[in-house]
Amino acid sequence: MGECEGPDRDVRPAGRGLVLAPITWTDEEAAGAGLASVTAMGGLNALGSLRGRTLLVEGAAGGVGSAAVEIAVAQGASVIGTASERNHEFLASLGAVPTAYGTGLAERLATLAPDGVDIALDTAASGSLADLIAIVGDPARVSTVADHANAHRLGVHLANAENDSTLLAEAGELGRQGRYTPRIERTYPLERIAEAHAHAERGRTRGKAVVCI
Ligand SMILES: NC(=O)c1ccc[n+]([C@@H]2O[C@H](COP(=O)([O-])OP(=O)(O)OC[C@H]3O[C@@H](n4cnc5c(N)ncnc54)[C@H](OP(=O)(O)O)[C@@H]3O)[C@@H](O)[C@H]2O)c1
Repeated sequence: MGECEGPDRDVRPAGRGLVLAPITWTDEEAAGAGLASVTAMGGLNALGSLRGRTLLVEGAAGGVGSAAVEIAVAQGASVIGTASERNHEFLASLGAVPTAYGTGLAERLATLAPDGVDIALDTAASGSLADLIAIVGDPARVSTVADHANAHRLGVHLANAENDSTLLAEAGELGRQGRYTPRIERTYPLERIAEAHAHAERGRTRGKAVVCI
């Protein structure tokens, strides 16, 4: 059990159904898995088969991005993830090759992936969708879960989280196999929920912040 006090159970409610969370996950990790994993899977599924492909995850250190990295690696992709320097070791621990986001990304990728980047998932909404399209060469090979404003204009896939226990079950199975663990940067007691919101709003969370109720 993690920092949140509570019964030690291995069944957690999941929308329309019940999904078994891996017994190896703490309650905090199970709480952090839901939205992050199904959002990541929605964005990844829009890109087709991942096996043998080189995937760029823009915003790879966040809750959705870090889930996408591990899930994509488990599905056979070679993953390059963008984050600030302080998160590069974290990305490497998830199985991604880390690089910085922003100016010069295409040049860095030409070195990191000389055969090219096949597909890209945006979880950052940093305004980089046009750059991601230029990098992979086709808007149909880019998806975003974050940049609703530009997705339609640029013709990239837009994925939203679905309350789908099949996807959650898939995430749980990857968890049982030790290939996906929701990353929790920090937990907050309920009486400090305002701090948790302020933390999340800074947009620098590594993985998830969890409120214990
Ligand atoms: N469509 C849906 O159903 C759905 C569901 C959930 C979330 N979302 C959206 O998905 C996005 C990601 O959510 P999240 O919870 O993963 O966010 P988050 O945890 O707040 O993401 C924070 C991460 O973004 C990174 N970041 C900040 N500026 C960046 C930039 N310019 N380029 C690349 N990465 C940058 C940060 O890394 P550094 O600290 O290393 O900079 C940090 O690790 C949000 O826009 C959220 O609204 C959509």
